[in-house]
Formats: sequence, C-alpha cells, structure tokens
Amino acid sequence: MATATRERAPLIEEDALDDLVREAIGRVRGTVLEVGAGEGENFGAFDPSVRWLGLEPDAERRAELTTRAREWSHRDRAPLDAVCESIPLADASVDAVVGTYMLCSVTDLAAALAEVRRVLVPGGRVVFADHVVSPPRTLHRAVQRAATPFTVRFDDGCHLDRDTAAALAAAGFVADRVTSVRVGPVLRVPVLVFEGHAP
Ligand SMILES: C[S@@+](CC[C@H](N)C(=O)[O-])C[C@H]1O[C@@H](n2cnc3c(N)ncnc32)[C@H](O)[C@@H]1O
Repeated sequence: MATATRERAPLIEEDALDDLVREAIGRVRGTVLEVGAGEGENFGAFDPSVRWLGLEPDAERRAELTTRAREWSHRDRAPLDAVCESIPLADASVDAVVGTYMLCSVTDLAAALAEVRRVLVPGGRVVFADHVVSPPRTLHRAVQRAATPFTVRFDDGCHLDRDTAAALAAAGFVADRVTSVRVGPVLRVPVLVFEGHAP
C-alpha cells in the first residue's frame, strides 16, 4: 500500500508544482466533478471539451465560483452547495473527479473518498493534489502532528498530517501516476499529486 511521501522527495519550485497539477488536470475528459473548487482557480487547466461540474460548501467562495464558471462557459449546472462527504449526484454519473488542496480540509476523509468512488463511472479517473504528512520518524512529521489541532481550528479545518496516499489506496483507487515532491524554501512541505482511477 502507498503510504506517506518518501523522505527525499525532490524539492521543486511552487511554479513547477503548479505546472504538474495543471498538466494532471488537463488530462481528464468527459463530465468532470471538481470538489472543493474554491473560487475556480483551476478553470484554465481543464481541457475545453470538459463538461465541468463544481462542488463548494463555502457560500462566499461558491458565489465567486459561480461567476467564474459562467465566464469560462461552464453553464450546465450551478456549483453544488455540498460537502464531498455527501455529494448530491447519482451513482456512476461522472467520468472524473478533481480536487486540489481540499482533501486536507474535509472532515471525514474516508467518507469523502467513498463518495467520490460512488459518483464515478467504473474506471473513472481522479486527480488530487494536496500537502501531506511527512515520512515517519521525522521532525517535520512531529511538528505536523503537534500543529494540526491548531490548523484545524484556525485554518479552515486544514489537517497538516494526512496520509492521503494511504487513504486513496484504502478507498480502492488505483494509482496511475503519482508524484511526490517538496515545496517551499523553509518548510519544504511534502505534496502529493495523484492521478489514478476507480476499479
Ligand atoms: C485551500 S481551499 C482550495 C480551493 C481550490 N481547490 C484551489 O485549489 O484553489 C480548500 C477548499 O475546500 C473546501 N472544503 C472544505 N471542506 C470541504 C468538504 N468537506 N467538502 C468539499 N470541499 C470542502 C473549502 O471550502 C475550500 O474552498
């Protein structure tokens, strides 16, 4: 089973990470659900053929997302007012699910990933990018563990210590292209870019 990012994942610039994430998003096709879509930072990364559906629980972000979705000609359906743990879509109704820097914030990671699997068609693709827990027995990991109760409380529910690769594997997703890097000149935050598919 995949676990935490390996200790010496390459250190890259944030721009290079953005490029990796945009390339991954650019590979999905069909009807795509973007979960925790925020204010629509990823619109420019999607292939123009994609039928985009969005989900965003925060009202202010969703209002901005709705405006930007229209600007990008995604007018099929207004962004869903929902959480990833309970997606108001039918089973096997989307070809791909994308989520960037949001799995750290969901309240119940296993429930959110189970819902992602439910709404995906068999073989449907996923792209997730997020900061993740550091390898075991590192000072960085100990700091992440100690700081997480504070970031959950004061930084929009953000967990610094999530082993997202393990959670994706436990949820049954098959890894196709997994990139582990570190970013930032000081903190060297481990980041996972996961491209995979449902069985
Ligand atoms: C750090 S922001 C990232 C936004 C966007 N994906 C991006 O990359 O710019 C995290 C987002 O996850 C959303 N979020 C928090 N909890 C969530 C949940 N349980 N289900 C879906 N989205 C959630 C927040 O409202 C916020 O928009």
